Amino acid sequence: MSSVVVIGSQWGDEGKGKIVDYLAQQADAVVRYSGGSNAGHTVVVNDVSYKLRLLPSGILYSDKTCILGNGVVINPRVVLQEIAEMKAKGVDTSNLLISDRAHVVFPYHEKQDELQEAALGDAKIGTTKGGIGPCYMDKVARTGIRMCDLLNRDVLAAKLKRNLDAKNALFTKVYGAEPLEYEPMLKAYLQYAEELRPHVTDTSVALGDIFDAGKKVLFEGAQATFLDIDYGTYPYVTSSNPIAGNAAIGSGVGPRYIDHVVGVVKAYTTRVGEGPFTCELFDTDGPGTYLRNTGHEFGTVTGRPRRCGWLDAFMVKYAARLNSMDALAITRLDILDGLDEIKMCTGWTIDGQPIQHIPADLSILAKAKPVYETFKGWKKDISGVRKYEDLPEEARAYLARLSEVVGVEIGIVSVGPNRDQTFSLKEFF
Ligand code: GDP
Ligand code: IMO
Ligand code: MG
Repeated sequence: MSSVVVIGSQWGDEGKGKIVDYLAQQADAVVRYSGGSNAGHTVVVNDVSYKLRLLPSGILYSDKTCILGNGVVINPRVVLQEIAEMKAKGVDTSNLLISDRAHVVFPYHEKQDELQEAALGDAKIGTTKGGIGPCYMDKVARTGIRMCDLLNRDVLAAKLKRNLDAKNALFTKVYGAEPLEYEPMLKAYLQYAEELRPHVTDTSVALGDIFDAGKKVLFEGAQATFLDIDYGTYPYVTSSNPIAGNAAIGSGVGPRYIDHVVGVVKAYTTRVGEGPFTCELFDTDGPGTYLRNTGHEFGTVTGRPRRCGWLDAFMVKYAARLNSMDALAITRLDILDGLDEIKMCTGWTIDGQPIQHIPADLSILAKAKPVYETFKGWKKDISGVRKYEDLPEEARAYLARLSEVVGVEIGIVSVGPNRDQTFSLKEFF
C-alpha cells in the first residue's frame, strides 16, 4: 500500500492535473476529495488537450479506478457533459465511481452564488459562479441533497420541494429575483440520476478495498492552500479544504493511509478572483505582462485574465508546513525561458519588520511587502530537457534556492504541458 496526495501550493492552476496525470502512470486509483466543478485541470497527452472539471485526472487511463469522494460537490450536468466529451474522444469512463455521500449541486446553488456575488458589489469574492459555496453551505446546514438521495425518487422529490421553496423565498424576498421552477428541475435531476446510477457507490469502502489489496492511490487536490476555507486568505477563498489533511476526510480513509504529499508549485504566482496577493505585478509591459502573455494566464473555467506575480517562496514555505509536504513539483519553469532577470520572494515584511508566518487578519496582511532575491535568467528553451542535470545552471540555481527557502526537496520538474515534458528526482511509489 502506498499513497500520494497532490495539492496546490499557491492560489490554484499550478498544474495539479498535469502532475496527477504524470504520477498516475504508476498508480492504480485516482481520487478527488474536495471542491467541485470550480476546478479546471488541463491534461495534455500527445498534444491533445483534455480539460477536466470534475473527472479525476486519471480518467485518461482505462485501467485506473477514478473516484469522486464524499468531500466533492457534484454538478450532475457538468459531470455528464464531461463523460460525454471523454466518450467522444474515445476515453472509457466506466472506471468512474462517485460517492453516495457526495453532495449534489442544483441550479438554485448556481443562482444563489450569482446573487450573493452581485449583492457584495466591490467586496465580491470573484467566485466561479458554479454554486460551489452555496452547496457546501447547505451541506453544513444539514439541508443538502446527497447522491444517495438523488437515486431515490421519493426522497429527491420531497427534499427538492422543501429546498426549492426555501431558496425561492430567499431569491424573491431578499434579492428581488425570479423564482426557479420545481417540475422541470425534478425531471432533469431524475434523468441525471439514471445516467449516473451505475457509477454511484460507497467509495470509502471501495477505496478501503483498493488499499487492502496493496494498490497505489493518488489523491488529486483541487483549488489550493491559499484558497482553503480555514487557511486561505479568508473570505477570498473557496468553501472547502483543499489542503492535504482533507484527503482523508474527503475520501473516507483514515489519516494513516496518507504516505506522501507533493506540493505543486508554479514557477511564478497567479491568482484568479479577488483578494490579497503580496507579490502581484501591475505593470503594462513588464514582467507581469510577460508572465500573463507567455503563460497564457487566462482561467480555464471562466476565461478571466489571471493576476500574475513572481514566485512567492515565503508562501510556499507556509503551505509546506500546513500540508506536511515532502516534495515539490515545479511546473511551468519553461515560461521563464525568455526573461533576462527573474525574482523570487523569500520573505515578507510588515512595517519594515520581517515576519515569520502569514497573518490571519487581512488588514495586517494588506501591509505585507515582499522581499525579493534576483536571479539571472537562463534565456534558453528548456522545453526539451528531460533530466535535472540538463537544466541550465541558472535554472538549477533558482530551484535550489526555492527548495532551500521552503525546506522541501524538489521531486518533479515540468517544462511543458505534455505528459512527457516532465521528470522526477525521486520515487513516489
Ligand atoms: P490545475 O488547475 O492546477 O490542474 O492547473 P490548470 O490546468 O488550471 O493550469 C495549468 C496550465 O498549465 C494548463 O494549461 C497545463 O496544460 C499547463 N501546464 C502544466 N505544466 C506545464 C509546464 O510545465 N509548462 C507549460 N508551458 N504548461 C504547463
Ligand atoms: P483549480 O483546481 C483557481 C477561486 C475563484 C475565487 C474563489 C472562490 O483549477 O486550481 P468558488 O467558485 O470556489 O466559490 O470561488 O476561488 N477558485 C480557483 N482559482 N483555480 C481553481 O481551481 C479555483 N477554484 C476556485 O476564482 O477566487
Ligand atoms: Mg485550474
